[in-house]
Amino acid sequence: MHLFKYRSGELFAEDVPVRGLAEKYGTPLFIYSYKTLLRHFRAYDEAFNDYPHIICFAVKANSNTAILRVFSKQGGGADIVSAGELHAALKAGVPSKKIVYAGVGKTEEEIRFALRSKVLMFNVESGSELRQIDRVAGKMRAKAPVALRINPDIDPETHPYITTGLKKHKFGIPIGDALEYYRLASRLKNVNVIGIHKHIGSQITKVTPFVDALKRVLILIDELSMQGVAITYLDIGGGLGISYKDEEPPVPKDLAKNLIPLLEGRDLTLIMEPGRSIVGNAGILVTKVLYLKKGVEKEFVIVDAGMNDLIRPSLYDAYHRILPVVNRKRDAVFCDVVGPICESGDFLARDRELRRARQGEYLAVMSAGAYGFSMSSNYNSRTRAAEVMVKGKEHFLIRRRESYDDLIRNERIPAFLK
Ligand code: LLP
Repeated sequence: MHLFKYRSGELFAEDVPVRGLAEKYGTPLFIYSYKTLLRHFRAYDEAFNDYPHIICFAVKANSNTAILRVFSKQGGGADIVSAGELHAALKAGVPSKKIVYAGVGKTEEEIRFALRSKVLMFNVESGSELRQIDRVAGKMRAKAPVALRINPDIDPETHPYITTGLKKHKFGIPIGDALEYYRLASRLKNVNVIGIHKHIGSQITKVTPFVDALKRVLILIDELSMQGVAITYLDIGGGLGISYKDEEPPVPKDLAKNLIPLLEGRDLTLIMEPGRSIVGNAGILVTKVLYLKKGVEKEFVIVDAGMNDLIRPSLYDAYHRILPVVNRKRDAVFCDVVGPICESGDFLARDRELRRARQGEYLAVMSAGAYGFSMSSNYNSRTRAAEVMVKGKEHFLIRRRESYDDLIRNERIPAFLK
């Protein structure tokens, strides 16, 4: 569900016409619907109401502090993978006791920052990371709360680039080795084992992989308890998919219905790390048609947003629906919607049937709220887009467009070249 709908042929973000926003703030422009963000967050919170839980929004999906603030005000936490994400989460007011820290390559400096900030737990991805956290915590005379990220070897049947829970992946500790690593963790003086973590992939459109992975992890929790290792936090990761085209993914309620019965009677706090399913369909990317071009084999619609703004089509061949901001009756044509970047891989859609576009009109690239801005770059020295949040009839700039000076701000010309 989202709140980007047509009214008399004009696309609205909640109660604000998208065209007006594009004119006011310029394009490319990310627009987020506050009510959709709220609704999606609450859908999780309410679905798991009957079980102790923390919803730790996956900051990597969208790290804008205004967006993080929406969830922290609802009692949400954050799932982070870097010191930069920790900084953003703290600035947004996320309580450190609701922050979980994953990622296979935490540096010593990052570990120190997280220990100083007193995050809820480190989701540890290897034996050597575990020893490093123990060492760093020892130097700081701290005790590091840890969960081990277990790789349960479950196929979530999604895009290979966003599958993470198979034996062949770099993530987590193989489930077969988990007991050994937990034993190691309990021997280490400066870590405190409190949890278990898994995350099997992203854009998962079925409940079964979640159920299967949870069952495997619960068996492990029982084995651990027999060995005297008590787990308090069970972090089941994120990964619920959204509808980009015609997918019909389960909703949080479906997850809860299938997962809570497995957890009943256990004294655990459940942690979830949803990203895409909360922000994905709460955001769009608005772009302007610059030129129309007839190639030898196909037509191109050249727009002012490129792969630097939204890399998902280029990187994963991902499908994003593209809608005209003002929907006029025109014939449909097959075309490629491409950006201004000097790469053949710079496209937002390929061989797509669209109403014939006009120069100067605005198009909305849908489902761009997750892994849109957060994966954007300055390639081709393009300034990154502005971001706006709409709430009812109101709109708020939540990130100004970068300036040309922003692009070179951190650069220095050495004296010998002056
Ligand atoms: N927790 C962990 C440990 C993760 O690695 C991820 C995503 C999440 C939670 C959130 O997953 P979500 O609920 O958003 O599926 N850039 C790709 C997606 C990469 C996902 C990486 N990890 C894309 O644009 O499709």
